[in-house]
Amino acid sequence: METVKRIGILTSGGDAPGMNAAIRAAVLTAHGAGVECVGIRRGYNGLIAGDTTPLTPERVEGIITQGGTMLYTARSPEFMTKRGQKRAAENVRFMGVDALVIIGGDGTFRGARILADMGVAVACIPGTIDNDIGSTSYTIGFDTACNTAVEAMDKLNDTMKSHERCSVLEVMGHKTGYIAVNVAISTSATATLIPEFPIDLRRDVIEPIREARLRGDTHFTVIVAEGAYSASEVAKCIREETGIETRVTTLGHIQRGGIPLVRDRVTATRMGSMAARLLIEGERNKVVVMGGECGDCCESVELDAALAMKKTLDSDMRRMLRLPDDGGRTATV
Ligand code: F6P
Repeated sequence: METVKRIGILTSGGDAPGMNAAIRAAVLTAHGAGVECVGIRRGYNGLIAGDTTPLTPERVEGIITQGGTMLYTARSPEFMTKRGQKRAAENVRFMGVDALVIIGGDGTFRGARILADMGVAVACIPGTIDNDIGSTSYTIGFDTACNTAVEAMDKLNDTMKSHERCSVLEVMGHKTGYIAVNVAISTSATATLIPEFPIDLRRDVIEPIREARLRGDTHFTVIVAEGAYSASEVAKCIREETGIETRVTTLGHIQRGGIPLVRDRVTATRMGSMAARLLIEGERNKVVVMGGECGDCCESVELDAALAMKKTLDSDMRRMLRLPDDGGRTATV
């Protein structure tokens, strides 16, 4: 087995707070083992273009506090082509890179699988605000994004309360409702709509608002995960069916930014360090995950196995939010 002397690091897909902490940890761990690191900029586009930047301990100093990714990121249509993939794999060798640390979501991992098939050694780290990767209970950026959305909802609650209105807040999550359910529980939302379950506006929104009104509530909140339903349609329905003045807020990319919170700094540091260590110790094509057999610690799983894993929405959370029990059929990603 070839000794790893140079590790390339890239971030791909949507950025997430904590990605910088993972980069820093990988660089410092590698440096401690006498292994050099190089940053590949703009995700898989950077591999194709040979777009690199040196990554030394000095270069990553202080980045643990910074949101976004110092390596830039991209979704790369070019890497979806055979030509782009071949070029990327060739460039890994041309750059003198022996192995790659790849940080991103499930689409990013599928890209890593392609490189692995072409003989490139990879170690993947789950980095996405959506927390929608089957193999891990936690993805870097999730906690910071949820807290951003909770802070927004708390503020909205102040003004909704004063005006006795209803607020419909749309949060991100790609095709899943992990951000939505965490925000809903944390802010005691009146109703929650997520894409994993079929939605009936009367049953899932109007009825909970009516019940809340009967309990004496004078303001209401509905959390809508993107892709679950149109937030403006939900608001229209509330106005028509209940007469309550309703306002829509779409948080959008605000959820992706900001200073990473402690959980993201610590998790990313553990994951970044483990990814570098795995490669240096000769492990290949692994994903660093959290919450497997070992509970709240990091471990690694085979990339293929990780790609095949499904995630199920926690049944306690589902019950708290009165989301339908579907026997575990649809609440998977
Ligand atoms: O995957 C992270 C995410 O923020 C999703 O929640 C969202 O659907 C998507 O990225 C938005 O992507 P873009 O920044 O390309 O618009």
